[in-house]
Amino acid sequence: MLAGNDAASRIMVALDYPDVDAARVLVRQLEGIPCYMKVGMQLFYAAGPEFVKELKQHGYRVFLDVKMHDIPNTVKGGANSVTKLGVDMFNIHAAGGVNMMQAALEGVEAALRDNPELTRPTVIAVTQLTSTDGRTMNEEIGIQGPVEEAVVRYARFAQQAGLDGVVASPQEVIRIKAACGESFQTVTPGIRPAGSELLDQSRVMTPQEAFAQGTDYIVIGRPITGAKDPRAAILAIIEELTNK
Ligand code: C5P
Repeated sequence: MLAGNDAASRIMVALDYPDVDAARVLVRQLEGIPCYMKVGMQLFYAAGPEFVKELKQHGYRVFLDVKMHDIPNTVKGGANSVTKLGVDMFNIHAAGGVNMMQAALEGVEAALRDNPELTRPTVIAVTQLTSTDGRTMNEEIGIQGPVEEAVVRYARFAQQAGLDGVVASPQEVIRIKAACGESFQTVTPGIRPAGSELLDQSRVMTPQEAFAQGTDYIVIGRPITGAKDPRAAILAIIEELTNK
């Protein structure tokens, strides 16, 4: 069982919107609820850093889900820019390798040295996308073995590089925590409250099930953003988590 504000602060709402106006409507509807806001590439490419600043001014914590993957020097620069922007969390692909992940951390540190008032963002790795199945990973990407093994291997390398955690399917949380320790954070999408539509997610868990696996944050998009009353939808999730 989680306390009300603790439950809210561990829910990340995926603001998957094409423009800032649509995102603002949702943000207004959720006003006063201390959830995390996840800004992904669709909204960030359309709305840019200004909208992230706007969310910060409203007091939200922001997870910038832009999944950086490039040569180390470029990722270092990207990490430096998003740290200066004031995001609370961002992610990079573990497939970029340990050098690339360490370069991201160097970019973070450089920003903090330039402006000690900034807070250090949580940096997490994307392991194997949940949309990648075993066949795609084995045949197209060329990584052998089961997906779960690749996920844990990536998580270990992310930890070795000094990252704080990974994005993963809730099904993988126990294995990741066993390999990397409880304090290595997991952020899990693929969450569906009981009775809500699966849409294009296949292996899903309810919020309660995901927290029972030991996850640190759950990412929820359409069950909140697509609800007739998004505020009622998130409050119902918080209520369930608080009472169980
Ligand atoms: O609407 P829904 O709850 O399915 O949204 C899930 C969010 O989590 C989306 O923003 C999606 O991009 C993100 N995500 C995911 N699976 C991953 C990584 C990120 O669903 N493996």
